[in-house]
Amino acid sequence: MSDVDADLRGAADFVANPYPYYATMRAKGPVHTVRTDDFDRVWLVVGYDEGRAVLADQRFGKDWRKLPGQTATGDPINANMLEMDAPDHTRLRKLVAREFTPRRIEALRPRVQEITDQLLDAMLPAGHADLIDALAFPLPMTVICELIGVPDLDRAGFRTMSNAVVSPAGAQEEGDAVRTMGAYLAELIEDKRRAPGDDLLSALIAARYDDDDTLSPDELVGMAFLLLVAGHETTVNLISNGVRALLTHPGQLADLRADFGLLDGAVEEMLRHEGPVETATFRFAREAVEIGSRTIGAGDPVLVSLAGADRDPARYPGPDRFDIHREAQGHLAFGHGAHFCMGAPLARMEGRIAIRTLLERCPGLVLDPGAGEPDWLPGMLIRGTRRLPVRW
Ligand code: HEM
Repeated sequence: MSDVDADLRGAADFVANPYPYYATMRAKGPVHTVRTDDFDRVWLVVGYDEGRAVLADQRFGKDWRKLPGQTATGDPINANMLEMDAPDHTRLRKLVAREFTPRRIEALRPRVQEITDQLLDAMLPAGHADLIDALAFPLPMTVICELIGVPDLDRAGFRTMSNAVVSPAGAQEEGDAVRTMGAYLAELIEDKRRAPGDDLLSALIAARYDDDDTLSPDELVGMAFLLLVAGHETTVNLISNGVRALLTHPGQLADLRADFGLLDGAVEEMLRHEGPVETATFRFAREAVEIGSRTIGAGDPVLVSLAGADRDPARYPGPDRFDIHREAQGHLAFGHGAHFCMGAPLARMEGRIAIRTLLERCPGLVLDPGAGEPDWLPGMLIRGTRRLPVRW
C-alpha cells in the first residue's frame, strides 16, 4: 500500500461526522493524499480557495477514458457530461441548456407547490412521519420524472437502483444497478422515439447541435441517467439536512418562522453548512499541477471536498455554526466552473417551496424524540440520512 497523509477508510465515525477530519487536515494544509473506499491513494482538496481553483482549472480532466493506459469504455450511463471534457462536454451541456431554460424551470413553480401541498395533505393527519419518505424524496422525484417525461416509472424500484449507484454497499451492487438502470433507460428512450411527448427527453431525442449532430443512443441514456439521479439524490438531502438543521437550532427556526424574508438566505446556509454533495465527482490531473504547496502528479486522481471547502474558516468565520443570517453566498455546494450544477435553479426552488410550506402547515414540527441517531449514507459522495423521523 502507498503512503498517504490520512486513511479515511479506517477512520472511526467518519461517515457520521466527517467535518472534524476535514478540519484536522485543513489545519495542516489545503491539499492532502488520502485513502478512501474507492481509492488506495487520491488527492483530497479541503481548502475553499484551492477547491474552487481546482473545479475551474482545465488542467483537471473528467473523462477518465482519456487516462493513459485506460482501455475500458464504460456503460452507456457513463456517456454523460459529468464524465466528459470539452468539446464533448460543451456539446452535451449546450443541448440540454437549450431545453433546460430558466423559463421552463420557472413554469414548474405552480406544479412544485401543488405536489408539495398534496404530499403534506397526505402526511399531516398521522401526526408523525419519516419526512424523507413523505416529502423530501417524492417531491424532487415527481418533479424530475414529470420534467423528463417518465410517467409510469416504478419509483420505489428506481430509488433503490439510484441509491445503489450513488451510495453503493459494494462494487457488485453498484455494477448491477448501473446495468439495470442503463437497460431501463434505453427502453424508455426507444418508447419516446416511437411516441414523442411534450417533455425534456423527447426534446433531447430530437435536438440537433450545429444543425446535424444529434445525441447518440448512449449519450441519451447517459443524459437521462444524469438528470434523473442528479435531479433527486441531491435535492432530497437539501430538504432533509436543511429541516434537521432548523429543528436542532430552535432559535434559527423561530427567526425564520417570524420572517420568511430570510428563507432564500437560509436555504443558501443549508447548502453551505451541510450540502447534499460532500465531495465533487472524480477528476484527474492532465499534467503535473502545483496547488497548496503540493505537486499533484500527471494522471493522479483528485477529489474536491465541497463539505471541507464550505467549512473553511478562512472563507466562513465560525464555519461549523449554522447561521441563517450569515452571507453564505459563494459556497461550492453546486460546484463551480464548467461543470457547475445545471439543476441549481430547480433545486433552490424546490427547497424553498418545500421548507416554507412545511413550516407554515406544521407549526409544532419537532424531531421525533424516539428516533435515535441519524443513519448517514455511506460513501463520500452524498451527505444525507436514510430517514428523518419527525412529529408535530
Ligand atoms: C440541492 C440539489 C443539488 C446539488 C447540491 C447539486 C450539486 C451538484 C454538483 C456539486 C455538481 C458538480 C459536480 C462536479 O463538478 O464534480 C452538479 C452537477 C450537475 N447537476 Fe446538480 N445538484 C443538485 C440538483 C440538481 C438537479 C435538480 C439537477 C437536474 C434536474 C441537477 C443536474 C446536474 C447536472 C446535469 C450536472 C452536470 C453538469 C456538467 O457536468 O456540466 N442537479 N450538481
